[in-house]
Amino acid sequence: MRSSMSRAQRIVPAVLGVRVDGGLPAQVRPMVVGRLVVVTGASRGIGRCMAERLTQAGARVVAVARDEAALRSLPDAVEPRVLDLRDTAAAGAAAERLVAESGIPGLVISNAGHSIHRYLEEYTERFHDVARLSGVNLLGPIAFLLPLLREMMRAGSGQLISVSTVNVDVPLPGWSAYTATKSGFDAWLDAVSPELRRAGVRATSLHLPRVRTAMSAPTAGRYPVPELTVDQAADVICRAIVRRPRLVRPWWAAAGGSLVRLAPGAMDALLARGLSAGWRF
Ligand SMILES: NC(=O)c1ccc[n+]([C@@H]2O[C@H](COP(=O)([O-])OP(=O)(O)OC[C@H]3O[C@@H](n4cnc5c(N)ncnc54)[C@H](OP(=O)(O)O)[C@@H]3O)[C@@H](O)[C@H]2O)c1
Repeated sequence: MRSSMSRAQRIVPAVLGVRVDGGLPAQVRPMVVGRLVVVTGASRGIGRCMAERLTQAGARVVAVARDEAALRSLPDAVEPRVLDLRDTAAAGAAAERLVAESGIPGLVISNAGHSIHRYLEEYTERFHDVARLSGVNLLGPIAFLLPLLREMMRAGSGQLISVSTVNVDVPLPGWSAYTATKSGFDAWLDAVSPELRRAGVRATSLHLPRVRTAMSAPTAGRYPVPELTVDQAADVICRAIVRRPRLVRPWWAAAGGSLVRLAPGAMDALLARGLSAGWRF
């Protein structure tokens, strides 16, 4: 996969401050072989790539998404589970069924997500956008995870990886509903992580920069920054499976996040000036 990547694309992770080493198949395999792994958002993009890689590494993979045909086109060994996370009652019931039928996961990759780019003035009459993103990015994932985490805590082992975004560190105009719902999940994970850890379950939050997928396609070319490929994003996740860190984010997201918290008024003024000058976020 890597050999077909252009030289320019290969330096993108370093430019973005993202580590893509340390998650080679030989390193991932011992962490997942024979174990039950649940991947949400596995019908395409980053989640699909992870479902394929982890199946190849010897994991028993359960793939969750709405698009049944796409799930069924994954390798035969993958167990497809069709679910719309916005239906929180169905999400909770699906997770209970999963545990009863397939067992307790050793690894859960909470990856399903959706983004909508709209400035505030474009959605003052579109509250349903916010409700929709809350369902996919915040409420649905929590409803789905509760039964799984209950069992993992009882078993005293496992890892939960949340695929999040640098937007939670550096909130930008145009991404408010996405940022709010992804940040809500991150805050929830921050609060439950010590409880999980005490019970032997590790939590990992990955704040990814832009990745070239269907999600980022509508705003492609908007920013003068390169994007990771799906494979590079999967490398970041594989590294996290091997190392089990609590939080992974580029240095500039950490620095930007500190600035936003230390001087929010100054940041507002800067971004407002940028909006007036025609910057597009
Ligand atoms: N792409 C980026 O630039 C970027 C950057 C940072 C973080 N991320 C995060 O990375 C994760 C994966 O995104 P991606 O870029 O791979 O996006 P993607 O290609 O659009 O894939 C999104 C996945 O989420 C699933 N999904 C969406 N709505 C769902 C729902 N209501 N119920 C169940 N599953 C649903 C989709 O499956 P169905 O449509 O079949 O349901 C699909 O499998 C997301 O959490 C995103 O926030 C992405």
